[in-house]
Amino acid sequence: MERKRTWLVSCVASRACLTAPLLCLLIFSVRGETCPAFCTCAEDPATVTCLDSPEIELPLDVSQWTSTLILRGANISALRAGAFSANGSVLELRTLRLSWNNIHVIEAHAFRGLPRLQRLDLSHNRLAAVSVQAFCGLDELHFLSLNNTLTPRGARELPQALSTGSLRHLQTLELSGNRLTAIPIVHVDYLNLSTLVLTNNSIETIGKNDVSSLSESPTMRVFLSLNPFECGCELEAFYYWLRNDSRCPDSARVLCKLPEARSGLPVEKLRKEDFDCANAEPDAELEAVSYVFLGIVLALIGVVFLMVLYLNRGGIKRWLNNIREACRDQMEVYHYRYEQDSDPRLANVAV
Ligand SMILES: *[C@@H]1O[C@H](CO)[C@@H](O)[C@H](O)[C@H]1NC(C)=O
Ligand SMILES: *[C@@H]1O[C@H](CO)[C@@H](O)[C@H](O)[C@H]1NC(C)=O
Ligand SMILES: *[C@@H]1O[C@H](CO)[C@@H](O)[C@H](O)[C@H]1NC(C)=O
Ligand SMILES: *[C@@H]1O[C@H](CO)[C@@H](O)[C@H](O)[C@H]1NC(C)=O
Ligand SMILES: *[C@@H]1O[C@H](CO)[C@@H](O)[C@H](O)[C@H]1NC(C)=O
Ligand SMILES: *[C@@H]1O[C@H](CO)[C@@H](O)[C@H](O)[C@H]1NC(C)=O
Repeated sequence: MERKRTWLVSCVASRACLTAPLLCLLIFSVRGETCPAFCTCAEDPATVTCLDSPEIELPLDVSQWTSTLILRGANISALRAGAFSANGSVLELRTLRLSWNNIHVIEAHAFRGLPRLQRLDLSHNRLAAVSVQAFCGLDELHFLSLNNTLTPRGARELPQALSTGSLRHLQTLELSGNRLTAIPIVHVDYLNLSTLVLTNNSIETIGKNDVSSLSESPTMRVFLSLNPFECGCELEAFYYWLRNDSRCPDSARVLCKLPEARSGLPVEKLRKEDFDCANAEPDAELEAVSYVFLGIVLALIGVVFLMVLYLNRGGIKRWLNNIREACRDQMEVYHYRYEQDSDPRLANVAV
C-alpha cells in the first residue's frame, strides 16, 4: 500500500498526468502494484523472488506484468488448478522457477493463465502425481526442467502428460537424476525437442523401438552419460545409433556397467562382434528349449518303464524266483567244490 501511494503521489505531481492522463494511468497500473508478502520485487525486468518461506500460499498476488517468478524453499505439496491465476486472469509470465518446493502433485490446468510461459523449472521436488492435463495451456513453453524430481510413480505418469499436444513448442527437456529405467516419452513428435537430457539415471538398455523413436526427430540431441548400460545383445541398435548418428554429444561418456568384463568401457568403442545377436541369442534360447524337451522325454520314458514293471509284476516275481533258485544251485555247487579243495590245503598247512 505504501508503494502504491508513493507512485500515485509522484504521478499526480508529475506534469504527465495533467497533459496525458492516459499515460499516467498506464504507468500507475504497470508499476504501482504491491509486492506479495515474503517476496522481493524488482521492476526491470519485472521479477518476483520468494525464497525460503514455508508459509507462502498460492496463488500469489503478483502483477499481471511480472515476467519472472522465482519461488524456492516453500512447502507447496500440490499445484492445484489455476495455482498462478486463480480467477481466470492472464499473466505475462515468461519464466517460472519452482525448484526445491516439496511439490508432490501437479493437478490438471495447474498452469492456467500463463499462455506466454517459455521456461518452467520444476527440478528438485518430489513429483508423485502428474495429471494428464498438468501442462495444458503452456502453448509457448520452450524449456522444461524436471531434474531430480520424479518419484517412480511420477515417472510412470509423465509420458501421458507430455503427449497431450500442448507442449508442441518444447525444445529442451531435462530429466537428469530421476532413477529412470526407460525413456519416458511415448512419441517425440508431440514435442519439438532439440535437446533431451537423460543423464544420471538408471537406464540399462535402450531397445530397438526406443532407438527408432529417438531417430524420429532428425535434429534432437540426447545426453545419456552416467547411466549403467548393460552392454549385451539388446543394445545392438543403440550401439549403431551411437556410432552412426552423432546426436549424442556426450557419447564418449556413455559407459557400460555390465558385464563385468566391459565395465567402464565406452559403448561406442566396443566392437561390432560384442553386439552380434544374430547368432548368440537364438542359440541360447534353442539350448534352453532342447534341455526342457530332453527332460520331458526322459520323464516319459521313466513313467512308461514304471508302468511296464507294474503290469508285469506277476511275471517279474516268477522271474526273480527263478533267478534265486538258479543262484542257490550255483552256490551249492561252489560250496561243494570249495569243501573238496580245502582238504589238501589244510594238509599242506599241517605239514
Ligand atoms: C509441508 O506441508 C505438509 C502438509 O501440506 C506438512 O505435513 C509438512 O509438515 C510441511 N513440512 C514443512 C517442513 O513445513
Ligand atoms: C483476481 O483478479 C483481479 C483482477 O480481475 C486481480 O486484481 C486479483 O489480484 C486477482 N486475484 C488473484 C488471487 O489472483
Ligand atoms: C539439469 O541437469 C543437467 C545435467 O546435469 C544440467 O546441465 C542442468 O543445468 C540442470 N538444470 C537445472 C535447471 O538445474
Ligand atoms: C521447433 O524448433 C525449432 C528450433 O529447434 C524452431 O525453429 C521451430 O520453429 C520449432 N517449431 C515449432 C512448431 O515450434
Ligand atoms: C545423480 O542423481 C542423484 C539422485 O538420483 C543425486 O543425488 C546425485 O547428486 C546426482 N549426481 C550427479 C553427478 O549429478
Ligand atoms: C550403421 O553402420 C553400420 C556399418 O558401419 C551398418 O551396418 C548399420 O546398418 C548402420 N545402422 C544404421 C541405423 O544406419
